[in-house]
Amino acid sequence: MIKKETIDKILETALIEEVVGDFVHLKKRGSSLTGLCPFHNEKSPSFHVSPAKGIFKCFGCGKGGDSVHFIMEHEKYSYPEALKYVANKYNIEVEETEVTPEFKQAQDRRESLYIVSNYAASFFEDRMWNSEDGKTIGLGYFKERGFRDDIIKKFQLGYSPDDWSALLDGAVKDGYQQEFLEEVGLVIKNDQGRVYDRFRGRVMFPIHSFTGRIIGFGGRTLKTDKAVPKYVNSPESVIYHKSNVLYGLFQAKKAIRDLDNCYLVEGYADVLSVQQAGVENVVSSSGTSLTTEQIRLIGRFTKSVTILYDGDAAGIKASLRGLDMILEEGLDVRVVSFPDGHDPDSYIQKLGAAAFKTHIDKNKKDFIFYKTEILLKDAENDPIKKAGVIREVVESIAKIPDAIKASVFLRECSTLLQMEERILISELNKMRLSKIKKETPRPHFDDSPPPDVEAMMYETPVASDEYQERDMLRVLLMYGDRMANWDDTTDTYIGPYIVLHLDDVVFSNALYAKVVKYYKEELEQGRLPKEKDFIQHQDREISSLAVSLISTPYILSENWYNMHNITVPDETEKLHGTVMGAIFHLKKKKIGSIIAAKQEAIKAEKDQDNVMILMKEYLDLKEVEKYISNYLGSVIIK
Ligand code: CTP
Ligand code: MN
Repeated sequence: MIKKETIDKILETALIEEVVGDFVHLKKRGSSLTGLCPFHNEKSPSFHVSPAKGIFKCFGCGKGGDSVHFIMEHEKYSYPEALKYVANKYNIEVEETEVTPEFKQAQDRRESLYIVSNYAASFFEDRMWNSEDGKTIGLGYFKERGFRDDIIKKFQLGYSPDDWSALLDGAVKDGYQQEFLEEVGLVIKNDQGRVYDRFRGRVMFPIHSFTGRIIGFGGRTLKTDKAVPKYVNSPESVIYHKSNVLYGLFQAKKAIRDLDNCYLVEGYADVLSVQQAGVENVVSSSGTSLTTEQIRLIGRFTKSVTILYDGDAAGIKASLRGLDMILEEGLDVRVVSFPDGHDPDSYIQKLGAAAFKTHIDKNKKDFIFYKTEILLKDAENDPIKKAGVIREVVESIAKIPDAIKASVFLRECSTLLQMEERILISELNKMRLSKIKKETPRPHFDDSPPPDVEAMMYETPVASDEYQERDMLRVLLMYGDRMANWDDTTDTYIGPYIVLHLDDVVFSNALYAKVVKYYKEELEQGRLPKEKDFIQHQDREISSLAVSLISTPYILSENWYNMHNITVPDETEKLHGTVMGAIFHLKKKKIGSIIAAKQEAIKAEKDQDNVMILMKEYLDLKEVEKYISNYLGSVIIK
């Protein structure tokens, strides 16, 4: 854990305009700076940076936060990773709090595994560029396949000498421990206790995590002998989980984000060739079928994937089902296939970069249409097969979380399938319904009614007290640490006053409730939270909320100022009224729903005595409501 003092120092030192300025071209406009938002596509700038407040906010896509949040969002770093990045930029030494010895040991061990992996990569690289057999055999091989030096260096390719212990000997001589080499599988200990290198006489592809650390290797044989496995790969280890890694992502991530698309290919060689062709947004799943983790990894950078297929029609057909998973994660999927048994690598090496790009542009197809066409071709005029095709296509469409997108596909596919759209829609709804039913847990009590599945298909409406709750939060965050005068004698802090008066209020919005709870806890600890504590809050939900609340002031309160026919040039001039207005509007709303519930209860009650009791409660509530309304009238005018 990074020490609180270090975090504070980082946040105090970092200048938002400098941190953001490294990635976004900013122009001065009044007291703030603007630029094109790096998080969504736009032609006119709606991305604002406020040096005074130390925050950025995009009014187009809603993203906002402080310097550290910007780096988290932009580089897809965790909170500590982003803190370290900013610390490094400003030469701030990062101090970590004492951790348990077990944790520290595990941490150190992990670190050691990264270190030996990094050593191995340098070793293989050095051998390829600087040793005789490395140059002739390893480098010679890559050259023969048409790879340029810059690409070979960009991917840190190397060569493992054809020797039983070249790496092991080198590493031990340089002071690295055999134990760690063994743990990441760079060396193997056999049953007789003999220790030897895993990779021998192979060209080496280091595998990077998306933050750029070396976590594993793939080694390709140079022999054509079918008995020799073509690739030998690092085994799973504490630092290498195959299902969470995409080859080339580290080198591709910037381009993926900039171009808002990710090309997915099958092998190492494809990644290299596609990059060499100048198309930098490319990754590979390394021969295995794509996992959900890998899709989510891509999803951090773009919501659009284009799969570059090699292989024959049968292979493609077999893999179609796997792609539904990408749809399910909410990504758009397009597909390009290559002719005559070509893969992207062989296509580029034979026909060149320009032809490759043209081929992609001409042949990319939305996955749903691609699938429809392939399956239809197969079904020909067989009506039973065709019914199966329709079901399969609708099944894919049903996986698309975005209802509008799904309906567009339904329409287009109804033409392709020559089937009425209405029928496809009803088929789709049936599938959605059965999916929800499957996912809804059954209640334990047998006599309770089943959950209202139909109702669950619709989005929950915005709670009717959302605006009042939101405005209350805004006032609390913005003015909580300021003073106001309540009774013309003493000034007191606004935050504690609000919290005291919210004691009987239950927030419908869970996030707002969380913020108020945090506020209370801070007060109990004797701390008065400031606006910046929310903006810089480690909980991304809270900080995002804070930024959007303070970036869009007045909008909500204007409603009630207007309602009372009053124009307020700046609400800070009337802080007392602003605070009371927010509290009482919220309470009025809350009491309104309690009153409505009471009315319902009265209607439903059969017993006359009970009705009398309820009536009494009802009238009391009405009394409170009236008081609040009167108060609201007067406080605004005051
Ligand atoms: N692969 C593997 N083990 C194998 C074969 C393949 O791990 N025995 C993985 C590798 O990640 C490889 C990918 O599957 O990159 C795709 O396989 P293939 O197309 O055969 O490999 P290429 O990288 O295209 O190799 P080359 O073009 O050199 O034949
Ligand atoms: Mn290949």
